[in-house]
Amino acid sequence: MKLLIINGVNLSSTGRREQAVYGTRTLDEINASLKAYAAARGHTAEFFTSDLEGELCAEIAHAEGKYDGIILNAGAYSHYSYAIRDAIASVGVPVVEVHMSNVHAREEFRRHSVLTEVCKGEILGFGEDSYRLALESFFV
Ligand code: DQA
Repeated sequence: MKLLIINGVNLSSTGRREQAVYGTRTLDEINASLKAYAAARGHTAEFFTSDLEGELCAEIAHAEGKYDGIILNAGAYSHYSYAIRDAIASVGVPVVEVHMSNVHAREEFRRHSVLTEVCKGEILGFGEDSYRLALESFFV
């Protein structure tokens, strides 16, 4: 399988920002581990990271025919971006929503994602392992 892992707004600061919540490993380190994890199982993981909502929508749209699945951590956009929701609903590629933190144990505004309804499923609360578990969901 060929899978695309998309990280949205502020995720490029992972490893530096709010380390108690998101850990100390950088996104590059996490992505390298995920690439190796997928490769060891005969799959390919590719990556796209952007702070920009429109770029995230375009990347989701362009995944059609190129990827078997998308793993998406849209960051704070998850809680209010109808544009990203529409992009997910429009693309014929299954999307698994990911959050590193347990958003239900945090501030009220994080408890709702406008994306979940149009995603295949959601994995949250396991730190960087949330991404690995999302990969695994495509392998089973
Ligand atoms: C996050 C949770 C969001 O609420 C937050 O805005 C993020 C990261 C997570 O991975 O836990 O940027 O998506």
